Amino acid sequence: TEFISANDLASFMDVSVNEVIKVCLNMGMFVSINQRLDAEAITVIADEFGYDVEFLSAEEEDTVIEIEDNEEDLQPRAPIVTIMGHVDHGKTSLLDYIRNASVAKGEAGGITQHIGAYDVMTKSGKRVTFLDTPGHEAFTAMRARGAKITDIAIIVVAADDSVMPQTKEAINHAQAAGVPIVIALNKIDKPGANPDKVREELSAINVLVEEWGGKYQSQEVSAKTGLGIEDLLEKVLLEAELLDLKANPDRSAVGAVIEASLDKGRGYVTTILVQTGTMQVGDIVLAGPHFGRVKAMTDHRGKKMKKAGPATPVQVLGLTGAPQAGDKIQVMETEREARELATQRQQLAREQSLRTKKHITLDEIGRRL
Ligand code: GTP
Ligand code: MG
Repeated sequence: TEFISANDLASFMDVSVNEVIKVCLNMGMFVSINQRLDAEAITVIADEFGYDVEFLSAEEEDTVIEIEDNEEDLQPRAPIVTIMGHVDHGKTSLLDYIRNASVAKGEAGGITQHIGAYDVMTKSGKRVTFLDTPGHEAFTAMRARGAKITDIAIIVVAADDSVMPQTKEAINHAQAAGVPIVIALNKIDKPGANPDKVREELSAINVLVEEWGGKYQSQEVSAKTGLGIEDLLEKVLLEAELLDLKANPDRSAVGAVIEASLDKGRGYVTTILVQTGTMQVGDIVLAGPHFGRVKAMTDHRGKKMKKAGPATPVQVLGLTGAPQAGDKIQVMETEREARELATQRQQLAREQSLRTKKHITLDEIGRRL
């Protein structure tokens, strides 16, 4: 099994990928930036940098027992979409356009600057949830933490530019995670736009678009004028239909942490994505090494919510600390149980950081996702 790329390993160890490549060369291993490494290679390389690596399997990962859902309890849910692509190709612009377009008149002023996740209603009346991962690093980090939260990836390529290293990396990540890809050929409004050139370059890396007989849906868009964006969303929804996404809204909620911060007035604000079940105000939650009682929930426009069902992003107030992106959040029966597990996890983290050898933990990404 191959786990992560040399580049990702370097970022886990907080060194440059060039150093990793150099060390590999010294050991007689030829490794390229995006090359995915197997367990043996990771162990050997990490050792050179003073890390030992622990490979966790899915079973060992969490102490909390999962509830299996019965098929008949499952209901259709909205797709969760991540936008990835090369620097400056228009990820943020696209996210902004989609969000602003969905805001009804009069509400437009209430838009906040940055938000980790939001959901919109398309013209065809279907809900789509978007995650704003500030880059593929976050996507990788979340996956390394065992969080599989994206259903579909939109890969943005600027049509006045080319398929770039980060474009390829984003495609690799999505493919490795088994996440379907929709290509957005952005900046189509620009005089220099040449989408055919980009399609050509994509075909050279085995991403053949539908118009050319391939399996990848693509859409020419402009995040500036909005051209093609409605069509892009319809293509995303088509992909979602094939996935037949379902979840059980009538159970205690389980979700993933998207981001968390400390707000002077409100305490810890945690943006989460409910994956299954329904989160309610008053629920006791465990999130990574933290716990708490949900005091209030708001949507991405700051509107108060009492409950949040599957595939709903929501900001939660009431946690006792800030969990990390990708941490699991789940509703617990009792506060005592939540507190105990949180304490246990904090202790574990402390012990691990006390060990002399630096430590990285990778789950079996290749196998599980
Ligand atoms: P990073 O977050 O830095 O990786 O960039 P990004 O992919 O989020 O790109 P961003 O949305 O910041 O856009 C980069 C630049 O391209 C900005 O100046 C945008 O205004 C511009 N831009 C994005 N989309 C379009 C488009 O469709 N047409 C035109 N003309 N400009 C665009
Ligand atoms: Mg951006």
